[in-house]
Amino acid sequence: MTIAVTAATGQLGSLVIDSLLTKVPAAEVVAVVRDAAKAQPIADRGVEVRVASYDDPIALKQALSGVDKLLLISGNEMGQRTQQHANVIDAAVDQGVSLLAYTSAPAADTSTLPVAPEHVATEEYLAKTDLDVVLLRNGWYHENYAPSIDAARHTGTVLTTAGDGKVASASRADFAEAAAVVLTTDQPLKPVYELGGDVAWSQADLAATLSDLIDAPVAVADVTPEEQATILTEAGVPAMWVDFTVATDASIKKGELEVTGGDLSALIGRPTTPLADTLRAAL
Ligand SMILES: NC(=O)c1ccc[n+]([C@@H]2O[C@H](COP(=O)([O-])OP(=O)(O)OC[C@H]3O[C@@H](n4cnc5c(N)ncnc54)[C@H](OP(=O)(O)O)[C@@H]3O)[C@@H](O)[C@H]2O)c1
Repeated sequence: MTIAVTAATGQLGSLVIDSLLTKVPAAEVVAVVRDAAKAQPIADRGVEVRVASYDDPIALKQALSGVDKLLLISGNEMGQRTQQHANVIDAAVDQGVSLLAYTSAPAADTSTLPVAPEHVATEEYLAKTDLDVVLLRNGWYHENYAPSIDAARHTGTVLTTAGDGKVASASRADFAEAAAVVLTTDQPLKPVYELGGDVAWSQADLAATLSDLIDAPVAVADVTPEEQATILTEAGVPAMWVDFTVATDASIKKGELEVTGGDLSALIGRPTTPLADTLRAAL
């Protein structure tokens, strides 16, 4: 059995490799990366490293030779990912990969999250293949809120337009472990996993968590989208990220990141890691 992981040098991919190596011998794992030098620590653990950019269909075919199961970790070059993911999928079909797991977004097919359209396009592309597909619709990472620690220190607030919307975030390591379980289990798999942390937290909960961590008062500054955009712009945040943040908060307000259902804890066989633990580790 050969299990390949793309983007293995990324933050999630590295953790997937860590988790896989607790479950199967290194000889069964292939790391597909675009930068061999960055992958040296993975190679040092006995994992075969194959170099292929998502933009290189020929290299991707070579990289997936003999692979039985593949984790396609979505890329981070927004706007280019639909074609990049299609290149990986084409290579997987060409090389006779049996199972392909893909890291998507919560309820991607109905979500208004700004990242959803490229995930939907990839999900639709996968549906047209005869691959055995597992969609790992990962919720928000706890780690996305690490910058909120400094922001809370400097402003004493959590700036948001999300209102009462809740976020069931989870640690990257928990999402990675779930992926490793999917890639190694003999148990039947669901076609779609909606993955989120056990606890859905509000902005007030986040403020309380940050307050505990920095030992100072933190309040929620619930503003309008226009006010949020102005404050972020004046703080020097690039326009693309201002738009992304405003759109994401709108999605949170609608409850689109309140992933419930327990798929993540069921896959990893334990409760998910609390937000406070991940943020404390980030301090
Ligand atoms: N759920 C969430 O909260 C959340 C947050 C952010 C992102 N995401 C999504 O989840 C993915 C994994 O998260 P992460 O934290 O591991 O992100 P990350 O650390 O930014 O890793 C992205 C990975 O994609 C690889 N990559 C990008 N373009 C590529 C290309 N053209 N060819 C081959 N590889 C390419 C990068 O390669 P290098 O290592 O060579 O740079 C890197 O390994 C992200 O890429 C994004 O799609 C989810």
